[in-house]
Amino acid sequence: MPQYAFFNGKFMPLSEAKIGIMTHALHYGTACFEGIRCNWNAEQEQMYIFRLSDHYQRLLKSCRVLKIEIPYSVDELCQLTVELAAMCGYREDIYIRPLAYKSSEEVGVRLHNLDDGFFLFATPFGAYLDVTKGARCCVSSWRRVDDTMIPPRAKITGLYVNSALAKTEAFENGFDEAILLTHDGHVSEGSGENIFLVIDGQLVTPPSSDNILVGITRDTVIMLAQQELGIETTERSIDHSELYTADECFLTGTAAHVTPVTEISYRKVGTGQVGEISMMLQDLYFDVILGKNQKYLHWCTPTYKQTKA
Ligand SMILES: Cc1ncc(COP(=O)(O)O)c(C=O)c1O
Repeated sequence: MPQYAFFNGKFMPLSEAKIGIMTHALHYGTACFEGIRCNWNAEQEQMYIFRLSDHYQRLLKSCRVLKIEIPYSVDELCQLTVELAAMCGYREDIYIRPLAYKSSEEVGVRLHNLDDGFFLFATPFGAYLDVTKGARCCVSSWRRVDDTMIPPRAKITGLYVNSALAKTEAFENGFDEAILLTHDGHVSEGSGENIFLVIDGQLVTPPSSDNILVGITRDTVIMLAQQELGIETTERSIDHSELYTADECFLTGTAAHVTPVTEISYRKVGTGQVGEISMMLQDLYFDVILGKNQKYLHWCTPTYKQTKA
């Protein structure tokens, strides 16, 4: 299947979209990105892009932090994305990666007086973590980068060295995912996911001030829990030890969907089985992203013109 990119203002085969080795962003991590999923609904023969405009609103906010200016509005970015996804013609789940970056081929650490570039590509993308069984996590020896260092609310490429260190440490120690704490020891998030605990039938998740990326899946789950299950979410700082006393735990993210966690640092979470509330939310979430729930269809942008409904 031919792969395409949108690069330097036009669509082209992915193999032709290249940047030079002196590109600023490659050396200094001066780029912002998004991860957007297009979910293939085989019954309808349709691919739905989930919360597309929310991703681009977040991208433009990240760009403000890095002083990157791209010549497209949220609506234009959404249109380009639908066009690219349709052009590729996939009939499976795909991932769209927009990236706005400091494109000058120049040596020198700074944000000012540099050119900005933007590209977009699409690639097939299946499961990131196994959502059917519980994930085994560890509390990382790496701390989450603080807002005073590189702001995690912006999805900045350079920040992901912190996530990569934690993820590989977890992997090499036999775990599926890492949970990072803030510099003062509160629970922050996974290497690429937000975290929720279930405590006494309610959801608890770290606030945006605990150095998290304010996730779109996180927001989706908070809404689904409230509107569909009548379960409220409290956003508050979470102590490290609450990870070991919670009834359930799950991770949320565009890549990870809703992934139940059944073990943290060699301790069972609750009974050690996938939790009931986690499963209910995962089921609801999958129906929503596949365009199967009419109430939330406004979050799903169809890629193909013809829908076999
Ligand atoms: C560090 C981090 N936290 C949380 C998330 C979840 O965010 P979202 O649900 O918007 O994908 C991601 C994924 O993009 C991430 O990279």
